[in-house]
Amino acid sequence: MDADELRRTWTRFWTDKGHTVVPSGGLIPHHPSAPMFTNSGMMPFVPYFLGEEPVPFDPPRAASIQKCVRAGGKHNDLDAIGRSPRHLSFFEMLGNFSFGDYFKPDAIAWAWELVTEVLGVDADRVWVTVHVSDDEAHEIWADGVGFPAERIQRLDADNFWEMGATGPCGPSSELFFDFGAEHGPDGGPANPEAEHRYVEFWNLVFPQYYRGTDGALSDLPSKNIDTGAGFERMLGVLKGSPSLYAADSVSRMVDAAQSLTGTRLGAGEDSDVALRLLADHARTMTFLIADGVIPSNEERGYVLRRIIRRAVRFAYLIGVEKPIAAPMAEKVAEVLGDAYPEVRTNLDLIWGVLDREEAQFRRTLRIGLRMLEDEMSSLDPGATLSGNLAFTLHDTYGFPYEVTAEIAEDRGHSVDRAAFDADMAEQKRLSKEGGRKNKGVELGDAQATFQRIVAEHGPTVFTGRDEESTQATVLAVVDTDADGLVDIILDRTPFYAESGGQVGDTGTIIRPSGEAEVLDTTYAVPGLHRHRARITSGTLVAGDVVAATIDGERRAAIKRNHTGTHLLHWALHEVLGPHVKQQGSLVAPDRLRFDFSHYEPVTAEQVARIEDLVNEAVLVNDPVRHYETSKDEAMAKGAIAFFGEKYGDRVRVLEAGRHSTELCGGTHVTATGDIGPMKIVSEGSIGSNLRRVEAITGFGPIERIREEEAVLARAADLVGVPVGELIEGIEKRLGEVKALRDEVSALKAKAAAGGASDLAAQAVDGVVVGRVDGLDRDAVRTLALAVRDQPGIRAVVLGAAPEGGGVALVAATTADSGLEAGALIADAAKTVGGGGGKGKDLAVAGGRNPAGLDDALDQARAAAGLSS
Ligand code: SER
Repeated sequence: MDADELRRTWTRFWTDKGHTVVPSGGLIPHHPSAPMFTNSGMMPFVPYFLGEEPVPFDPPRAASIQKCVRAGGKHNDLDAIGRSPRHLSFFEMLGNFSFGDYFKPDAIAWAWELVTEVLGVDADRVWVTVHVSDDEAHEIWADGVGFPAERIQRLDADNFWEMGATGPCGPSSELFFDFGAEHGPDGGPANPEAEHRYVEFWNLVFPQYYRGTDGALSDLPSKNIDTGAGFERMLGVLKGSPSLYAADSVSRMVDAAQSLTGTRLGAGEDSDVALRLLADHARTMTFLIADGVIPSNEERGYVLRRIIRRAVRFAYLIGVEKPIAAPMAEKVAEVLGDAYPEVRTNLDLIWGVLDREEAQFRRTLRIGLRMLEDEMSSLDPGATLSGNLAFTLHDTYGFPYEVTAEIAEDRGHSVDRAAFDADMAEQKRLSKEGGRKNKGVELGDAQATFQRIVAEHGPTVFTGRDEESTQATVLAVVDTDADGLVDIILDRTPFYAESGGQVGDTGTIIRPSGEAEVLDTTYAVPGLHRHRARITSGTLVAGDVVAATIDGERRAAIKRNHTGTHLLHWALHEVLGPHVKQQGSLVAPDRLRFDFSHYEPVTAEQVARIEDLVNEAVLVNDPVRHYETSKDEAMAKGAIAFFGEKYGDRVRVLEAGRHSTELCGGTHVTATGDIGPMKIVSEGSIGSNLRRVEAITGFGPIERIREEEAVLARAADLVGVPVGELIEGIEKRLGEVKALRDEVSALKAKAAAGGASDLAAQAVDGVVVGRVDGLDRDAVRTLALAVRDQPGIRAVVLGAAPEGGGVALVAATTADSGLEAGALIADAAKTVGGGGGKGKDLAVAGGRNPAGLDDALDQARAAAGLSS
């Protein structure tokens, strides 16, 4: 059975069992409790497990084939990749789920039916584990299914699955396949020595608990089923191989790695590791970029960077000189593009990002490796590698710490992590300027309160699409910190909570004897609007009936910018190409900001074209339709969906005129003409392959024109011409300035020449010594040379106390004077507290002490052989 057939079989089986089969969610999870990446099939369903959102499936069951990455956080398999045939950093997970619907008996019976009757796995070679405490699961296997009790084993932590540090969790029952005596000793999965022989291929989890931030377990609202069968593992079992690399969706990547590197599998242990690692990492990097991750030095971007660089380093070590990452990604698109169209449609972006990252890393890889080699060759065996070097490699040569550690480890050295961390902390401290962005939702005691409120009252009813003011009941007023602000929770609200880039609303919450000013609105937990507010008079407590009113003008400006953002997104696609992908956006009352992926600068002509397209779409004044529909219908209409979009049968679609159709939960104007003019005010790069455009709409461009008009009027006033003649006026003024400058220089030259002949007239024995205060050093020098060139002059020494302070001394002599310029002012320079000036014909010295200047000039006279 190959990958495609397994996909079909899975989908058919669960459809027959009344499940809604949903497409894979994105790799970037959205729930506040979620880890960095989607690491299992259950993650898109977390809100349903937690009871935060109504389950959109009827009956409440679902099945999926979910793309997963385990490369960070609790489930991190990165270090084992390539070395172990049983780990992949990117994999697909087959899963079936019940949200308070069927439980252990059906989950176990159906798994057994699928494995033995549909997939035809040899039942005698299957082993089962259950949690030490789970008599119920044991009984279902033994009595319900009739599974031989001697092949059921009980484990503790291994049979308790958790999504991450927080989130849903519960006991599990796992199915193992016995690959036979040639793969290890007997004793079943409980024998830790036999892990290569008994390979787990399906995990049936019974999530009924929630692990909170304090580590404590609480009950979920219902008992659920979350099963996960590694797609590649299942294919391995069906092919009789314990290796994940036997799955055709992976083996075809190993084939690609072989042909691109020119290295055959089996040529050596190191090159085998490299080939497997390339096959795995290519899948991970391709899918991460397709879902919007861009290499960077933080969080997800850092993990991606680490993966790309690791792949490049392994390729380099087996002698691959030409770029490898992008060609491997192209192969991923070929192998998995049918099941996951996003890797195909985003291929040019993926190619650009990988190519650039690889080129950048290769430039420094060689130098960095040499530094590391040098350092290690002088280390005693087993000695610790310097953390400062690891930091330099990280900072200057782009070696992720883990890469350095890995190379060092291969040679038996550990790295001084503490020193590395200290260097990192210092660098962070230095570069930390301006407020850094907050990272996600803060979880704490308040969080538990909010979760309880959602459990009791359900999500906040949002009335703000139709009204600006709503009568509502206060459900809670929570004082979360000491800043004098409170969080007000209402049963209904017209306040939009910040999401999808649109900022939260502001306004007031009022009752007869109490009033609060709302400064911001966000989601406390999914579905629950949190009004961050200052109580300005009286009191507000739970149970109060209030009028909740948003700042309508501000919201209207936000709406214009939000619909405008959609038109801008469309226009960017039109002008720059379909690879342009939204990376982030901010929709505020005064401006909109849109970050997108694109790998080259946008020209001024392109910017103008984008503006024109948007304004044309505004002027045709098409209706804007915002409606709820089924996800399938939205997709059929070609709605642009973002990665990580939540499931839910119902989605909101925004059709902004005839061109733009996107899923969007924000608030919008009702016709494109309502947006008013759009003006792009800036466009530029904000990272590799990442650009940002900022624009204004509505009254914004008018205000901007007005401001610029005022500047022009003031400028025209200063120049003394009407605005329409400003350019000519300025040109005329500049011409005058130039003429005046020329005149000044001519006069200066003349004055200098005149001064020179006056000074020459004071010569004694062909030597002039004089004080010319007010001139700066250069002017003194010019004057001294002019004096020297007067007839009958042999030498000149001029001293000045320039206006800015200090002293300038210049001596100049003719060739046949018999005097040396430097010698003339050597003592004098010391007297004015300075030095310098050693030339023969010309010497220039400075000093700090103008009070000594007269004495200094006397010394110069003496040095020239004149009596003072
Ligand atoms: N969440 C469980 C796992 O990942 C079962 O889907 O193993």
